[in-house]
Amino acid sequence: MAKKRIDQVDVAGKCVLMRVDFNVPLDDSGRITDDRRIRMALPSIRDVLERGGRVVLMSHLGRPDGTGYQAEFSLAPVARRLAELLAPAPVHFATDVVGEDARAKVAALSNGEVLLLENLRFEAGEKKGDPQFAQQLAEFGDIYCNDAFGTCHRQDASMVAVPEAMAGKPRVVGFLVAKEIQYLRDTIDHPERPFVAILGGAKVSDKINVIKNLLQKCDNILIGGAMAYTFYLAQGGQVGNSLVEPDKTDLARELLQEGRDRLVLPVDVHCGDAFRPDCNKQIVPAGQIPDGFEGLDIGPKTAELFSGIVARAKTVVWNGPMGVFEMPPFDAGTRAVAEAIAASGCTSIIGGGDSAAAIEQFGLADKVTHVSTGGGASLAMLEGKPFRAVELLDDV
Ligand code: 3PG
Repeated sequence: MAKKRIDQVDVAGKCVLMRVDFNVPLDDSGRITDDRRIRMALPSIRDVLERGGRVVLMSHLGRPDGTGYQAEFSLAPVARRLAELLAPAPVHFATDVVGEDARAKVAALSNGEVLLLENLRFEAGEKKGDPQFAQQLAEFGDIYCNDAFGTCHRQDASMVAVPEAMAGKPRVVGFLVAKEIQYLRDTIDHPERPFVAILGGAKVSDKINVIKNLLQKCDNILIGGAMAYTFYLAQGGQVGNSLVEPDKTDLARELLQEGRDRLVLPVDVHCGDAFRPDCNKQIVPAGQIPDGFEGLDIGPKTAELFSGIVARAKTVVWNGPMGVFEMPPFDAGTRAVAEAIAASGCTSIIGGGDSAAAIEQFGLADKVTHVSTGGGASLAMLEGKPFRAVELLDDV
């Protein structure tokens, strides 16, 4: 059943306690290097402000140890960026989470204004899901809204115990969470066919449950990235110095057996004799990587094979790069797949993390249907895992 969305509740004169995922990358001087997660939360925040409500925002940033304030994990830079993006709406910042400053600023907040609390993970109660900590946060809002898709796979207090403590009050999803669920769950459960998944990345072990779940739903699963080498090792192929998981070969054999008519492995590999752009390079048939060389990208024949399958697809989901896309020339395979997806005109869903970074790097993000803001959360959703943080919210 669909979850009630923020625009489906009356917010006029009310305080919306909204969990967002402002866990954005910062450089050494504390500057935000990618503000996409902040921008993607704006529609829900603006919707409340425009309809006469006020918003208390809560988020984590990084993984502080829960012993109190740590400057490098402060949300202060995020508050400044948010103020720029929401101007002229006033954006206040509380220097603690549930302390004196937060309580005073929540009490003083007017309709049409926003308050961002300091990093939730400065409080040990957040990771522990502590009900007392959750109760203190719950008292800040008349309505609870979860728009933190990137954190939906977590059981942190702000995701589960806070909405539990607010039972009886409206508890809804924001526009971002609604959209992510629409693409990463609903579209995948009812895809237009052919439905093709492209999976890459370093480790088979990270994607086992994704492969198992998608084998039930997809017409083809294309395997690239370093995890392909574990599949070749499992088949007795030569993998040279490639990154492999020898303890996962039995599992790889099982998956190959289960998906024999749907799993598509690379046919050639672009390999190098060192992990450097200026190394000696060769393109070799997959499973025949010479000693002293490691696979760093899919080869051109594989790129063509995968692009052809993508061109015929009506729905594509992509998670994980095909090679070392940050290091040309080993970006070619990932780029070819990204271009094929962008050109295909199909419903295209890009799982977060590295594949989202790759599609941005190639300037193709606006040519695909949806780029997820979730890393671990999008993987968990592709695994078909239920999300307690969403399930407990109000149905339409
Ligand atoms: C993420 O970036 O994946 C989310 O913000 C969750 O962060 P976490 O893995 O530290 O819980």
